[in-house]
Amino acid sequence: MRYLPIDSQLFVQNRQRLTALLKPKSLVVVNANDIMPTNADGTMVFRQNNDLFYLTGVDQEETRLVLFPEHPDPKFREVLFLRETSELIEIWEGHKLTKAEAEQVTGLPQKQVYWMHQFEQIFGQMVFEADHIYLNTNEHTRATVDVQSRDARYIAEFRERYPLHQLERLAPLMHYLRAIKQPQEIPLIQTAIDITDKMFRRLLGFIKPGVWEYEIEAEMMHEFLRNRSRGAAYSPIIASGANACVLHYIDNSQQCQDGDVILLDIGAEYANYNADMTRSIPVNGRFTARQRAVYEAVLRVMKEATQMLRPGNLWDEYHREVGKVMESELIGLGLLDRTDVQNQDPDAPLYKKYFMHGTSHFLGLDVHDVGNKYRKMEPGMVFTVEPGIYIREEKLGIRLENNVLITESGNIDLMKNIPLEVEEIEEMMQ
Ligand code: GLY
Ligand code: MN
Ligand code: MN
Repeated sequence: MRYLPIDSQLFVQNRQRLTALLKPKSLVVVNANDIMPTNADGTMVFRQNNDLFYLTGVDQEETRLVLFPEHPDPKFREVLFLRETSELIEIWEGHKLTKAEAEQVTGLPQKQVYWMHQFEQIFGQMVFEADHIYLNTNEHTRATVDVQSRDARYIAEFRERYPLHQLERLAPLMHYLRAIKQPQEIPLIQTAIDITDKMFRRLLGFIKPGVWEYEIEAEMMHEFLRNRSRGAAYSPIIASGANACVLHYIDNSQQCQDGDVILLDIGAEYANYNADMTRSIPVNGRFTARQRAVYEAVLRVMKEATQMLRPGNLWDEYHREVGKVMESELIGLGLLDRTDVQNQDPDAPLYKKYFMHGTSHFLGLDVHDVGNKYRKMEPGMVFTVEPGIYIREEKLGIRLENNVLITESGNIDLMKNIPLEVEEIEEMMQ
């Protein structure tokens, strides 16, 4: 792998933590993602299933993990199935994990690692001892998935073969676990952030009037790839001028104009973990008075919101409070009228005209990571904080986004080293 090896204890402990949440006599099956097709014989780059990665560290296709912590025979308590390599695969695709390497990666003894074609034979010795079968589904509240994943296909297959078994949902347990980052996960997120920091500093010296948005994307990619990242954590938004008001602008095709602000929503991937950063900077290196006023309003909201990311707070209440801070900033900027705000429908607050997205989401192996928004904030959770003001009539959109780790006493801003203050940005652009 391009990233440095991860201590297998992380995956050993993650399996133990999952085991502690299972009902008695339970069996769990988790599958790798498919390699997705494009056209003809083309394929997309492989991206591992994050739950499988979290439980094994295996970053390879056609992998399956089966856990059965109470199986009477210890060798069936944790079993891993891998794609068996061949000379043909070695020649065309390169190296695949051996059983010994799988032990190194996962912390699972190699005598419990099998080839995938042995699955039915081994599984047959496990499945009839189990009272509960946990299978995996994508239960992200915002997911709209039209293709059938390998996990989903496996559910259909399992139901067909073993119609009398009791199925359970694995996803809520995975969301519960993954919401709290383990001590070994924080440096991985921090590495993605540090790579993003290097990239942003490079862009501060590169962006100037006349540069094209895609040239900025090329700079970004160069900096990511030379730092052991496999690329961007998500499609980067490189949006100058009015483009910044298109929230999911990813065309990155326009030329940057003197006098515009450019919004950069860019984060690196590292070892499947993600950074999610946004900065908004003046193309010519100096904000106008108006741009600066809007920038500083967003920055104040960001700082106040960050203060509210602490143990015990609830996501919905936090968002309501941030909304109030934003409201008063928008009044200050002359964008909202105080009386109109006093008379507004509380279910449709006026600030949403200029700030139409959420302030925070969980971050981790997924950019919009799994986690339950009705669970109080706890140490170990990582959130983004990303207020923005988008003024279409002024062709101006400003968003700022940092990544914050909740701690016992409050939080740590994992992006505190990335330039953010106006003076700092302007100085570095000179
Ligand atoms: N870059 C995606 C987001 O900020 O949520
Ligand atoms: Mn973002
Ligand atoms: Mn975000």
